[in-house]
Formats: sequence, C-alpha cells, structure tokens
Amino acid sequence: MIILTKFLGLHPTLPLAELEAVFQAEKIDYWLIETFENYAVHGVKKFKPKKLGERLALTHAIFEILSDITSADAEQLVEKAKIKGIRLPYTVKIEKIGKGMDIDYQRFLKEVADEVWRKLEKDGIKPSVDLNNPATEFWVFVGEDFVILTRKLVEVDKKQFTERAPPNRPFFLPISMDPRIARAIVNLTRIKRGKKFLDPCCGSGGLLLEAASIGCRVYGVDIDEKMVEGSVRNLKHYGFYGSVKKGDCRKLEKIFNKRNYFDGIATDFPYGRSTRKQNAKMYEECLKSMERVLKPLSYMVIVAHEEIRPKSKNLILVELHRQRVHRNLVRYIHVFRKMKK
Ligand SMILES: C[S@@+](CC[C@H](N)C(=O)[O-])C[C@H]1O[C@@H](n2cnc3c(N)ncnc32)[C@H](O)[C@@H]1O
Repeated sequence: MIILTKFLGLHPTLPLAELEAVFQAEKIDYWLIETFENYAVHGVKKFKPKKLGERLALTHAIFEILSDITSADAEQLVEKAKIKGIRLPYTVKIEKIGKGMDIDYQRFLKEVADEVWRKLEKDGIKPSVDLNNPATEFWVFVGEDFVILTRKLVEVDKKQFTERAPPNRPFFLPISMDPRIARAIVNLTRIKRGKKFLDPCCGSGGLLLEAASIGCRVYGVDIDEKMVEGSVRNLKHYGFYGSVKKGDCRKLEKIFNKRNYFDGIATDFPYGRSTRKQNAKMYEECLKSMERVLKPLSYMVIVAHEEIRPKSKNLILVELHRQRVHRNLVRYIHVFRKMKK
C-alpha cells in the first residue's frame, strides 16, 4: 500500500522521524518514496492505521493513495483508482498543496465526486453520500504538477494532548514540554506497548505521562522530592500508575539494582545554573549510568540545550534534531542506540 502522511508542520525534521520510529516500533515494513511541503509518501506492508493514530503526535492524518496523475482530469483520476469495497456513505474533499494548479477547485471537486458516483454505480454498488458523517473520506490533493486521489485511513487524536497540556495538570513547571513534543520524544525510543520506559530526570513527569498513555510501564527518577510527588500526582490524575523514586540519575543501576533492564529511556537534562564544565561532567556520568540500565539494541533520547557526545563507543548517535523553543533556548534532541552489553 502507498500512503500519504500529512504532518502538523510543527517542526522540520521531527514529524517524519517520529512516524518512521513508530513504523519500527509497530513492526511495519516501510520505504520512503518522497517528501514535499508537510507531507511524506511511503510504501508500507503490514500497516495498522488505528495503532498509528493512537501513537503519533506530530502527524495530522494518514491517507491511502488510490491514484495519481499529472493534470486535473477527474475522469482519468477516478478511472485509475480502485474504490470497490469502500464503506458507504462517502464524501469527497479537496486540498491544495503549495501553489497547487490554476483551476476552479470547487468545480473540480464536484467533477471528482460525480466520477466516484458513476464508478460505484458501474461496479453495481448503490452510492450514498453524507457530508457530515461519512464512513469514507476521499481527499483530492492538488500540487503544482500532480493530482492525487486518496482515502483517509486515520486521523490523529489531538484532543488528548490538550487535556494533558501543562496548565491542565495538577502540577507543572514553566519549563514543562508541550505534550506533543514529549510524545514524539517517547516515540523516538521505538518502545513497544507494555515495555519498561525510564525518565531519569523526570521533573513534573511530562515524558512519563506520554509513555504511560501509549501503554508503557513507566519509571521515573528525580533528585528533587517535590518533583517526585508532582509526577506521581500527575500520573494519578490521568489514571496512570508509575514508579517514581527520589534519586540521582548518575546512580541508576544502584537505584534499580539492575542492568540491561529498560526497553527505552528518554530525558530532558537539567539546564543547570552550573558551569559548562560541571554540566558536561554530570551529563557524561548520567549517560554512563543510563547506558548500563538500558537493554542492548534499545534507544535512548536525550534532550539537552547543547550538543552532547558520550565518550562510550557503544552508544551510536542515530538522529539529532534541533528545536528552537524561544530566543534563548534551543533544544537538541539526540537519539542514541546502545549496541552491545
Ligand atoms: C528539565 S527538568 C525535566 C522537565 C520534565 N521533562 C518535565 O516535563 O517537567 C530536569 C529535572 O532534572 C532534575 N535533576 C537535576 N539533577 C538531577 C540528578 N542529578 N538526578 C536526577 N534528577 C536531577 C531536576 O530536579 C529537574 O526536575
């Protein structure tokens, strides 16, 4: 199946990285065909749209491509598409990509809708349309030199992120991350439902909340008792359970009395008032400890306000994203993979 993903446009590189990390977590075979504007086209096998809709944060919706042509020819567009077996009633919508084509969009939309009707009738199906409550949404995307007919497979549930926005939590910090970015960071660990997720500097628990909401077992550590209590309150408030302990992120193997234990780790490092040198030392010690408690071949995502390079040759940097939060704050989102034990 060939799919078209429309991203929310919140970041230039994170949405595609999140999507492909979730493909990997959900064991979907995929290959990237092309990207343009806020869209990506992939080939996929063993695709589970519902699961993706539940997990993704930076995607708007995913569509199956039914046909694609180079001019605004409704008859040809629908003729090439396989629409037998779709659920009824249906509706057809249209969207311009970039500059689009110089056409009358409403007229073209009507022509495509009529062609769909005709094709269904020809196939012996009694067509029915419902603009407000359709079982199938066809979407026509018109670019400068292409027209694509698609059907929507899934739309990401965005309401949940508003519900978990920091001001709606019982406890939050001014530095707390937007839940959509927090969810994308959790997704970059490629962790699977039911597996163990750790945030060793969990603060108010923004990453723990997102990991819990995709069904992970969550573990948090923070040096500050207030944060430990706050994270637990936040998790409870949304009906989740997590094990959150007061402790030092440099001593994780002692805190948990385990090595090679967690399936995914993500953290937002403290942006201390300490000097650069003190920070670098603290980061290095924490990375060493995280590496020890992470299972081999698993991923850890480190958010820091500078680029970091662990000394360990066993941690491979697989991705680096840069996010400008405001004038004086840039987040560097690193994805590392632990290789052997
Ligand atoms: C940037 S905040 C994390 C924010 C968090 N992502 C949130 O959503 O609220 C960093 C956290 O690291 C904690 N911290 C600082 N030094 C630590 C250490 N040595 N071990 C564990 N936690 C530490 C701080 O108390 C702070 O809560």
